[in-house]
Amino acid sequence: MPHARSRLTLPALCIAMTLAAAPAFAQSPNEQVTFPEGYENGVHYGTFKRGGITEELFTSPDAIAAAKAGEPFPDGTVIMMEDHRDGKLYRYVAMEKRAEWDDYSVSGSWLFREWDANRVAKASEDGTSCQSCHTSQAENDFVFTHHLMLDD
Ligand code: HEC
Repeated sequence: MPHARSRLTLPALCIAMTLAAAPAFAQSPNEQVTFPEGYENGVHYGTFKRGGITEELFTSPDAIAAAKAGEPFPDGTVIMMEDHRDGKLYRYVAMEKRAEWDDYSVSGSWLFREWDANRVAKASEDGTSCQSCHTSQAENDFVFTHHLMLDD
């Protein structure tokens, strides 16, 4: 009975795929933040310098508009910070906001991730320390450089 057999096989396959996919998020929710390709085509809203460190800040036009309007950042906002040390790209750090991530984060709906200069995610960084430091900026939707967006 080929018909009955295919009806049994498909759900089994779905379960197998779900189990295979689950550990990616079970380990650390911030693995859901993927490298935001094309971020540099957004708005370069600021440069932050401290000693030998230069940070270049990027986000979307919609995020800048929300900051200027005094509103929370829209769902789906990504903020990217390139971290250059002594004139060389050292790493990338980004934060991404999604309502569905509310339960994972102590800083609103934001999750945080870090990549090296080759865009390889730093596996040991689960974003916990990032979140706890950024909670101090709760009044600016957890973004330290919110003020730089106002006069961009
Ligand atoms: C000890 C506090 C602290 C920790 C921990 C921290 N940040 Fe930040 N973050 C800052 C500050 C302060 C700024 C503003 C720029 C600056 O001063 O360098 C900032 C800026 C940023 C920005 C630009 C948007 C904004 O909030 O201004 C991103 C993106 C970001 N951090 C991501 C991360 C990620 C990812 C991690 C974890 C790997 C992290 N941060 C850990 C303090 C922190």
